[in-house]
Amino acid sequence: MTRMSLHTMGQQRGRRSWAEPWKIKMVEPLKVTTREERETALTEAGYNTFLLRSDDVYIDLLTDSGTSAMSDRQWAGMMLGDEAYAGSRNYYHLEDAVRRHYGYRFLVPTHQGRGAEHLISQTLIKPGDHVPGNMYFTTTRLHQELAGATFHDVIIDAAHDPQDPNPFKGNVDLGKLAALIADAGADRIPYVSLAGTVNMAGGQPVSMANVRDLRALCDRHGIRVLLDATRMVENALFIQEREPGYADRSIAEILHEFCSYTDGAWMSAKKDNLVNIGGWLAVNDESVFEELRNLVVVYEGLHTYGGMAGRDMEALAIGIEESVQDEHVRSRVGQVRYLGELLTEWDIPIVQPIGGHAIFLDARRFYPHLAQDLFPAQTLAAELYLDSGIRSMERGIASAGRNPETGENYHPKLELTRLTIPRRVYTQAHMDVVAESVKACYDARDTARGLRMVYEPRYLRFFQARFEPL
Ligand code: F0G
Repeated sequence: MTRMSLHTMGQQRGRRSWAEPWKIKMVEPLKVTTREERETALTEAGYNTFLLRSDDVYIDLLTDSGTSAMSDRQWAGMMLGDEAYAGSRNYYHLEDAVRRHYGYRFLVPTHQGRGAEHLISQTLIKPGDHVPGNMYFTTTRLHQELAGATFHDVIIDAAHDPQDPNPFKGNVDLGKLAALIADAGADRIPYVSLAGTVNMAGGQPVSMANVRDLRALCDRHGIRVLLDATRMVENALFIQEREPGYADRSIAEILHEFCSYTDGAWMSAKKDNLVNIGGWLAVNDESVFEELRNLVVVYEGLHTYGGMAGRDMEALAIGIEESVQDEHVRSRVGQVRYLGELLTEWDIPIVQPIGGHAIFLDARRFYPHLAQDLFPAQTLAAELYLDSGIRSMERGIASAGRNPETGENYHPKLELTRLTIPRRVYTQAHMDVVAESVKACYDARDTARGLRMVYEPRYLRFFQARFEPL
């Protein structure tokens, strides 16, 4: 199967297979556990993969966040940390890298993405405002809500259908956005929250044409466009592959052009930017920057470190350079695709098209006999762990949480289990093992019974909720 899949992939691309543009210099041993050990560990973790100890995990596909392998150059950069409280030289390297590749004028470093989300939300949102976005992300929406806004999903309908083959399922539906502007008034919309690629939709990209049209619409109404740039490099690859006119443009050029249609961005550098911790916020408007720079000292740290050590900023500056190399992005997304194509060959239901950072198993079709209130995606994450020690993550009803006004559970159309691939960490053989474990769970799907939530925290419940099997 494996050989065939590779062969098919090669044929589809009309060229021979390629391999990762790196070799391995240091290894970290993995622990294999028994089924009995995993049963104990999962019970102790309340059937929530976030509550497992990583020592009890074999292949960890919980997230691609902060789990990348750094390069020898990044590790060398760690030794060049300038740990001055103010004006660290590493900060200026980071500022140069962000300006060069993302193009924004002013930089505010933060400890990670949600630190940046907090600052931008508090700075731009007034209570009663409305924030449209191309699907929600958990922490992003929560910070917008905590600042007093109501979030509105304005992604195209195709994004909510795991089988819709639209090549740009992350696109904003400009009709939905125009309707919201007419309804709420442009002055109550501080910005459009645009993410590329869209995590909760399955790592789906936004096209260049869409961001250009979005810019034009927002210009007519004086509304800002702010980008969640967390996985924008991966988005650039999809534009290069799928959008007419971009096949001969580099990832770096595409990234730069895309960002030029936006007024600023927040970043979880733990993803695209290849570091284990870090984030940033960048804007073009000087008065907004003044506000952000003032707020960062309250919540994160001085404006030249924002919660990062000097060495972290150096590794990040180098990580940005590495992250925009075409060969890197191609092999990163290529590995995700390899896993997805294996599962597709075996008729296992996943979100199509295959996205940039993860394979999303479609738990509704995996377990058609389980109602959404029985947490099918959480159940699948638990079954997968029990089968092989592979750790995945729920992205369905538990992640969606409750409407803050009514207290009702949101019932998202997408009920997914995410197999997230860390960058430069696992090999193709690991992907084969993952695919085989998913297949084993699929073959035993009729035996799954579902879960019940027995503890629910107030915020971002999926992180710490506890469940019991039915
Ligand atoms: N935006 C997106 C699209 C994200 O995926 C994340 C984090 C954040 C913002 C927040 O950044 O974690 O650095 O504070 N996503 C992780 C994930 C947690 O597993 O998808 P952070």
